[in-house]
Amino acid sequence: MKALQISPHVYWVGAIDWNLRDFHGYATTRGTTYNAYLILGDKPTLIDTVKKPFYHEMLARIKSIIDPQKIEIIVSNHAEMDHSGALCEAVQEMQPVTVYASAMGVKNLQAQLHPSFEIKPVKTGDKIDLGSDTLSFVEARMLHWPDSMLAYLVKEDVLFTNDVFGMHLATSKLFDDENDEEIWMQEARKYYANIVLPYSDIVTRFLGQVQQMGLKPKMIAPDHGFIWRKDPSKIVNLYAQMAAQKPTDKAVIVYDTMWGSTEKMAQAIADGLRQNGTKVQLMSMHANHRSDVITELLDAGAILVGTPVLNSQIYPAMADVLCYLKGLKKKNLIGTAFGSYGWNGAPVDSLTKMLEEMGVEVVSPAVKSLFVPDETKLQECEALGKLVSQKLKEKLS
Ligand code: FEO
Repeated sequence: MKALQISPHVYWVGAIDWNLRDFHGYATTRGTTYNAYLILGDKPTLIDTVKKPFYHEMLARIKSIIDPQKIEIIVSNHAEMDHSGALCEAVQEMQPVTVYASAMGVKNLQAQLHPSFEIKPVKTGDKIDLGSDTLSFVEARMLHWPDSMLAYLVKEDVLFTNDVFGMHLATSKLFDDENDEEIWMQEARKYYANIVLPYSDIVTRFLGQVQQMGLKPKMIAPDHGFIWRKDPSKIVNLYAQMAAQKPTDKAVIVYDTMWGSTEKMAQAIADGLRQNGTKVQLMSMHANHRSDVITELLDAGAILVGTPVLNSQIYPAMADVLCYLKGLKKKNLIGTAFGSYGWNGAPVDSLTKMLEEMGVEVVSPAVKSLFVPDETKLQECEALGKLVSQKLKEKLS
């Protein structure tokens, strides 16, 4: 396990988690990396650590270029355990002079790790003299935790961004220009949708703040995925675009089905949308993961949700996905609900309330079918699709 040089004095000493398939509810089908960086110079500095089980991988990479006990500074840019999980082991082994984090980082690290060592708080504008270079800090509150922080290596012009600008992608290729754009674009969008989306307004303000500071690094080094060296502006511009949450003429139909009735309704609604020229993505919760639903919604303008009724409740998979979507606070959606029932249709109506609670502009009452939809009911569904399409086009015009 070797350290890999990314710029004259900076080495990647992280770990690759090829087998991760679930990151707190987000399906990481391509695994991830936990990137840690070692700055060599007068005061060797470690930026972030890795998830606890990967400590020895990080340590082996560090040992390939330096005695770990020569490390004088450890910076923890973010307290979440995929980056701080190995911090206590690292401090015990390396005995650094100082460990730095943001003020909120200090609090969160203390509450999570109960460390026996001191952590020194830093804030935006604070600088550490590393001898041959300077490390400065930019707090990035709520991107995506209150403790999130970026560190900038001034002379070398490398910005360590922690989760920001990262993606869950296990790859042996360390740089943007070595990775397939079609794949990274999917993963960057999925990461934004599942991790960063609720903080989009903060992203927009933060990008403005970074621009005002004149910070335009030649290299962006996040803690997941690869390092941006060829064109860091690609991911910065993609963030600006995703944060804007601009809707398009696209509808996502999210549903589950028990005996096929709700699925028939979903297909008839899709027909109506399509006939009116709206792009449709049908997503049965039998076949799709919640994290792919929010990714599809990233550029959508409408959401339609459908459920059967089971024991006087909405279907469990629909409760799951709607709870997840509510937390991610996707903006600029119109929508409505539909579903089938046997003797109690109220749970279908409750979907409408759930959409409203998610901030969706509901454009029609729910369409409900008593058991299997007949031809008249399917025509009603088709008309619902056309109505949503029309409302969406009006909103976009
Ligand atoms: Fe990669 Fe918020 O942790």
